[in-house]
Amino acid sequence: MVTIRPYRPEDRSAVYDICVRTGAAGEDARGRHSTDDLLGDLFAGPYVTLEPQWAFVLDDEGDVTGYVIGTADTAALVERWTGEWVPYLEERYPEPRAGSDRSILRFGLHPERMLLPELAGHPAHLHIDLLPRAQGGGLGRQLIATFLRELAAAGVPAVHLGVDPANVRALGFYAHLGFREIPTAVPGLHLGRATGEL
Ligand code: ACO
Repeated sequence: MVTIRPYRPEDRSAVYDICVRTGAAGEDARGRHSTDDLLGDLFAGPYVTLEPQWAFVLDDEGDVTGYVIGTADTAALVERWTGEWVPYLEERYPEPRAGSDRSILRFGLHPERMLLPELAGHPAHLHIDLLPRAQGGGLGRQLIATFLRELAAAGVPAVHLGVDPANVRALGFYAHLGFREIPTAVPGLHLGRATGEL
């Protein structure tokens, strides 16, 4: 039986593993960077470290097979990320950096890029990833529903996310769940919706 439960520190390596196995527009990104931990260090580690209360996992009889992670307050996260996570990344990935790491590292080294004026009305944001064997059975919907419910309970009105336009499956999933595009002046596809019941 699969349950959704809050993240625990011992889930960290499973979360990192899921992150890289789904990191290429939803497909396996292992082997693309100098270490398979890089995507986790950019798109999972800061969340489960700085905002573990906003991390929920799928627990399949003891195996973690998916997660939703994020924050209720993007501006507050950016401040902590800048002070606490950027120094970690700079030490972990010193110059000179591998070419395959350099451009993607910008996401982690410049978290202020997340602070777009068009997104201010959607203060929360999220990332969701499920292993292939957990996909397609309604669990992604349940994870999103959990996150939206918790946000609403905390008084947060709306959530946004960034998605790779090449990730056609995720685009269909989000549209089906009521996420709509939030146009922004900078490149990148952003979607958002109100919190509450799905
Ligand atoms: N088009 C239309 N509807 C869809 C699509 C689609 N491509 N995909 C799913 N749906 C519908 C389902 O039919 C279902 O409808 P219903 O609830 O009315 O019956 C509903 O959406 C929920 O589908 P789930 O089965 O819950 O979806 P799943 O468990 O596969 O989760 C997800 C979707 C998160 C995209 C998953 O497949 C996944 O982890 N993929 C790989 C990683 C990934 O792409 N993550 C998103 C990255 S972007 C980001 O995190 C901000």
